[in-house]
Amino acid sequence: MMAVAAEKSAPATASNVVVRARDLARHYEVSRGMFRDKATVKALDGVSFDLEAGKTLAVVGESGCGKSTLARLVTMIEEPTRGTLMIDGKQATAGDPQLRQAVQIVFQNPYGSLNPRQKIGAILEEPLKINTALGGSERRRKGQEMMERVGLRSEHYERYPHMFSGGQRQRIAVARALMLNPKILVLDEPVSALDVSIQAQVLNILMDLQNDLGLAYLFISHDLSVVQHIANDIMVMYLGKPVEFGSAEAVFNKPRHPYTAALLSATPVADPARKKERIRLEGELPSPLNPPDGCNFNPRCWRSKDLCRSTEPELEEGGGQQRACHYPLED
Ligand SMILES: Nc1ncnc2c1ncn2[C@@H]1O[C@H](COP(=O)(O)OP(=O)(O)O)[C@@H](O)[C@H]1O
Ligand SMILES: [Mg+2]
Repeated sequence: MMAVAAEKSAPATASNVVVRARDLARHYEVSRGMFRDKATVKALDGVSFDLEAGKTLAVVGESGCGKSTLARLVTMIEEPTRGTLMIDGKQATAGDPQLRQAVQIVFQNPYGSLNPRQKIGAILEEPLKINTALGGSERRRKGQEMMERVGLRSEHYERYPHMFSGGQRQRIAVARALMLNPKILVLDEPVSALDVSIQAQVLNILMDLQNDLGLAYLFISHDLSVVQHIANDIMVMYLGKPVEFGSAEAVFNKPRHPYTAALLSATPVADPARKKERIRLEGELPSPLNPPDGCNFNPRCWRSKDLCRSTEPELEEGGGQQRACHYPLED
């Protein structure tokens, strides 16, 4: 049933697994050049993980590394080019209304994602209107209850989105996502547009909701510091592939992949006693249309040797987590 190559990524037993991805990939055909040659963008190219109820898997990496593509696959907005995706024990397919309800998404931009002409109450009740047979007063009761759950006052039920702050709007987006009692929330850069002072507030509410409701989070961020407190596991991605994957503790305390170390060194640490050497990441993410030979990270890596320029490293167990590196960092 399962590809042998994927098995090393996660044990295959736990029954509270709500998302299981094996070798998930999404490629796009694009035209380029003046003769409109076809080329393939490997936006996502082989991602495997298990996400359990009540847990958070953080997916981290620079812009363009394939995070939102993964989000679109898990929410069944798009289908994978390769690999398997199980949601709540079933093969993922957008044609299954129960599965569609089980996974909800919150996007980065709390300004764009709420209809400015709709009152908050109408925004919250809409999923119920479309998907349930609940009457008006019951919908209202549920909407107001959810508003309070995300720390907003239900007296403001008749207000419009522009009357709320950015952080409040993002809480409304979270409330809307929860109206159909999903099991899984995909959070695509949910706090990246917010002031740092507001970010913690929204993260705390997300953690409370997870505790109360047993939600599983796929939490996407380009910023490692954002996921430090909320993540159980962290997957660091580079050019469509995971380069490091392990518990948040392992990844934060002992990064093994040079790319993770570079991301971390750009991140303010919670523990000021822990001195860090600042690693400067030179250059930019290569174009996925023209990836380098060997390791995708080698043109930017200060540790790269001949092997890195010729042979792509596989994600392998080592030093407490998995890393795809020929010369991983040691203790
Ligand atoms: N529909 C598409 N067609 C062609 N290329 C795409 C499409 N969607 C995403 N990509 C490309 O795939 C790569 C990953 O994009 P994305 O998943 O949005 O990354 P991230 O969310 O990490 O910034 C980028 O190079 C992007 O340009
Ligand atoms: Mg994105």
